[in-house]
Amino acid sequence: MKSEPGSNVPNILPDGVVSLSDHEHHARMVLDDAVWAYFNGGAADEITLRANTQAWQTIELLPRVMRPLAGGHTRMNLLGREWAHPILVAPMAYQRLAHPHAEQATALAAAALGAGLVLSTQASTLLEDVARTVLPEADRGPLWFQLYLLPDRGFMQALVQRAEAAGFEALVLTVDAPVQGARDRERRAGFRRPADITAVNLAGRVAPTPLSLLPGQSKLFNDLMTHAPTWDDVAWLRSITRLPVLLKGVVHPDDARQALTCGAAGLIVSNHGGRTLDTMPATATLLPRVLQAVAGDAPVLVDGGIRRGTDVLKAMALGASAVLVGRPVLHGLANAGATGVAHVLRLLRDELEIAMALTGCRTLADAPGALLTPG
Ligand code: FNR
Ligand code: LAC
Repeated sequence: MKSEPGSNVPNILPDGVVSLSDHEHHARMVLDDAVWAYFNGGAADEITLRANTQAWQTIELLPRVMRPLAGGHTRMNLLGREWAHPILVAPMAYQRLAHPHAEQATALAAAALGAGLVLSTQASTLLEDVARTVLPEADRGPLWFQLYLLPDRGFMQALVQRAEAAGFEALVLTVDAPVQGARDRERRAGFRRPADITAVNLAGRVAPTPLSLLPGQSKLFNDLMTHAPTWDDVAWLRSITRLPVLLKGVVHPDDARQALTCGAAGLIVSNHGGRTLDTMPATATLLPRVLQAVAGDAPVLVDGGIRRGTDVLKAMALGASAVLVGRPVLHGLANAGATGVAHVLRLLRDELEIAMALTGCRTLADAPGALLTPG
């Protein structure tokens, strides 16, 4: 955040902010240029980044009128539990860059709004502190912990045990980022993470010693990729935890089937918000293919470019079990801390209800009928 001498931490909603895109425009003024590039940028030419939002916008809704809607609701069931609505906060690293209250503010807002929360491995707040904020809230949504596969398996096992002990209810293994994408916007802006904003849950981890390469060997393939996750690691992760393991970033139908064979409890169709491989299709395009492969054998969630309640309805109509929202949460956080995040989540929930009522959906089970071209 931009901090000016004597200025207070932003916690009041700016006037005239009535949509997620208003939050985005306001956050652009609040955040400094390099942090903005890190938060809002994508990989390379940002084709996938743009495609994500456009793809949801392009899907058309065809309303039904005069249906009985009294008693309608957004509730659904997933992983053995009823949720008030199908919206979760996506895992996002280093939220202290947006606001000093960081993940605690996001957690408080998510819990108050009944939204699920997926805490990033690279959070800038201790996972135990986040759990203590979320768990006592009566109407909270699910609380999940996101993992990257760490080369140090002993450390990773201890981290999983901490998440279990703290009360996290599922693990999300992110499998689409064995290496960072080509983050051109970030590099152009000269983004450097400040030394005092760190991945506090990874403190004490010993980074692997770089391997000495033979002539002609590649740093990426002969060193970094020796630690990249493989399917065997999913089995290992399952063997060390009693929590359900979801895989985030599975997009190929064959991988989706393999994930189920490996015992994944669910999949999150994601292209990492356009931050990894540019020119991947939008997630709205990928979702139906994964759903077809999974054939109802496990829940399939989706993220990327969800900016409106109508987008949530469309994802549910295509067959998603829930959606995750990324950057808009950071915008709300930058704009007004917990109040800002709560506002973003409230807007999405309200818009989802409006979209349901206007398309004639009493519950989310009716959503498929709202599409002009059924998925
Ligand atoms: C992310 N994302 C991410 N994913 C993950 O599994 N672990 C992480 O630590 C992060 N960190 C992260 C930081 C920032 C700044 C962003 C914007 C994104 C990806 C995230 O979970 C999600 O997949 C996308 O952000 C969803 O797309 P939208 O909603 O931002 O368009
Ligand atoms: C990112 C990493 C942290 O997208 O997943 O920035």
